[in-house]
Amino acid sequence: MRTQVCIIGGGPSGLLLSQLLQKKGIESVVLEAKTRAYVLGRIRAGVLEVGFAELMREAGVGARMDAEGFRHEGTIISSGGSQFRIDFKKHTSTSVLVYGQTELTRDLYDAREQSGGAIVYNVEHTTIHDAKTDAPYVTYMLDGTEHRIDCDYVAGCDGFHGVSRNTIPDTVRRDYEKIYPFGWLGVLSETPPVHHELIYADSDRGFALCSMRNENLSRYYIQCALSDHVEDWTDAAFWNELKRRLPEDVAERLITGPSIEKSIAPLRSFVSEPMRWGRLFLCGDAAHIVPPTGAKGLNTAASDIYYLYHGLVQHYEAKDDGGLERFSQKALARVWKAERFSWWMTNLLHRFPDQSPFDLKMQAADVAFLRENEAAQKVFAENYVGLPF
Ligand code: APR
Ligand code: PHB
Repeated sequence: MRTQVCIIGGGPSGLLLSQLLQKKGIESVVLEAKTRAYVLGRIRAGVLEVGFAELMREAGVGARMDAEGFRHEGTIISSGGSQFRIDFKKHTSTSVLVYGQTELTRDLYDAREQSGGAIVYNVEHTTIHDAKTDAPYVTYMLDGTEHRIDCDYVAGCDGFHGVSRNTIPDTVRRDYEKIYPFGWLGVLSETPPVHHELIYADSDRGFALCSMRNENLSRYYIQCALSDHVEDWTDAAFWNELKRRLPEDVAERLITGPSIEKSIAPLRSFVSEPMRWGRLFLCGDAAHIVPPTGAKGLNTAASDIYYLYHGLVQHYEAKDDGGLERFSQKALARVWKAERFSWWMTNLLHRFPDQSPFDLKMQAADVAFLRENEAAQKVFAENYVGLPF
């Protein structure tokens, strides 16, 4: 089989790229290691920057997101029992959209299937060949048979555990990584959110976050030890601990209920450079990971997709390879800024096991500065709603 762009990975990055390309008449095939149901079973963050939402609209997949998503014009930071609000609208004239990644991925799958775009599920042993030549190809196994796709370009959208990044030789690639000494225990519950905006809470007992999916679906997180197991956290223990980390009035208003999902995620910052090797381009989690504080994961993928999409359009429509040649440099420049913001926000609001009394004072001073200083709030707001592409 032959296609123009072979996309490895049917997560949000790969699906969005395939839809954008389709709109421009550029052919692609998406290879996904799992099934649609499996991909949709993963619960991820749900805050979309303006730039991401715009790409969804450009791909013709924004209708349900616009109808059902919630516009958030600010967020609450709670620290040491007091709260303050950072006003995105005032500082940036814009806002973010709260719309679950599961729903967004479902919309992308539906659009891909409706438009007859090729997705191959359950592929095994995906291998990228000859990425440094003008004739790359990808092989995979399906139902015991080997298949081959010849293409012009390969988009590695296969997440952190995919094969694309490792196709780039160690002599060329450099990885940068920071592992945090805690995780997030997350609970999804069919209860009304405690507040109409997100609450990021810093407390002596550790970090907590109140988020949501819709009027009757809440998403809450608490910082937990890496050694904790989900089975050891009963719903009652979770709600009790969450309340202890929130301001009293918020804790009193919190409506609890049975969890419908409960999981622990470790926190990591990771970037792999370069993001392009010959005709292979890495996008999204395949190239970088952020800790979830600030909800930058999916949003960082958006700029990769944007640069690759425009580079490919330039190549096919204008025979100009400038965009593709500058892809890695441009993508990494924005990735590192999102890495910095989520690293900073993680450091600001979490308790670290080895924190000295001095470190705690620095953290408290950092929060106090943010509470009192309009310029600091503007910097926060600009980063939170998303830096320009
Ligand atoms: N061959 C084909 N598909 C693969 C392979 C492979 N060898 N390895 C992994 N995949 C698939 C995974 O099954 C997954 O569906 O690639 C997909 C990658 O999807 P994600 O991990 O969701 O990564 P991405 O699409 O870049 O999404 C960006 O934003 O909120 C964040 O981390 C969150 O998912 C998130 C991300
Ligand atoms: C979520 O709703 O899951 C969420 C929101 C904001 C974050 C992280 C996760 O910073």
